[in-house]
Amino acid sequence: MNLNIIAAINNNRVIGDSRYNGLLWKNNQDLLLFKKLTLNSYLIMGKNTWESLNCPYLPKRFNSVISSNYKELNELWKSPKLEFFESIDSSINYIKNHQIKGFNDEIFFIGGLSIYKEALKYDIKTVYLSKINNNINGDLIFPDFEKNFYLKVRASFNGFEQYVYKKIGEALS
Ligand SMILES: NC(=O)c1ccc[n+]([C@@H]2O[C@H](COP(=O)([O-])OP(=O)(O)OC[C@H]3O[C@@H](n4cnc5c(N)ncnc54)[C@H](OP(=O)(O)O)[C@@H]3O)[C@@H](O)[C@H]2O)c1
Repeated sequence: MNLNIIAAINNNRVIGDSRYNGLLWKNNQDLLLFKKLTLNSYLIMGKNTWESLNCPYLPKRFNSVISSNYKELNELWKSPKLEFFESIDSSINYIKNHQIKGFNDEIFFIGGLSIYKEALKYDIKTVYLSKINNNINGDLIFPDFEKNFYLKVRASFNGFEQYVYKKIGEALS
């Protein structure tokens, strides 16, 4: 299975603000790109990000949520496409052992900040970064990761650019 990160940052590398659990901007084309990239794959997110979804889980994807409260949350919410785990390791192990027919081999870390920071300690194959063109302030800043990656794709969309980074040393495929 391949480990990937997907995030949206703005001109200040902001991903959000700790006083408001939700995206600070709305770019429909970026949301569509997120959906297109993550459909039929496995997601790993933190409990705050899950709470900000405003729905139990993102459809047509397996939703793993990391929380110290995972036992209680599984009793309340667990479904075939939603499961809570005590750690990223246990989530990845579960996914490897419970692959879903028709799904691909991609695992996406989808945030928030605590999960991105932990994810960067893993062998990440690809970072999909949407750079949204605004200067909104926030205190959740996406970590520096670029020194271990090279830029493979840069594409322009309405109001944002998509940057795709690959881990240095990965085969140039
Ligand atoms: N711009 C983007 O692309 C993007 C994407 C996603 C999210 N966001 C934003 O990011 C913000 C949320 O980020 P965040 O860092 O505050 O929260 P988060 O990473 O979404 O969730 C943090 C929570 O996850 C659980 N967790 C994380 N690591 C854990 C570990 N090792 N063991 C057990 N539990 C663990 C804990 O839940 P418990 O407290 O239950 O133990 C922790 O409080 C929001 O503002 C959201 O809108 C932005």
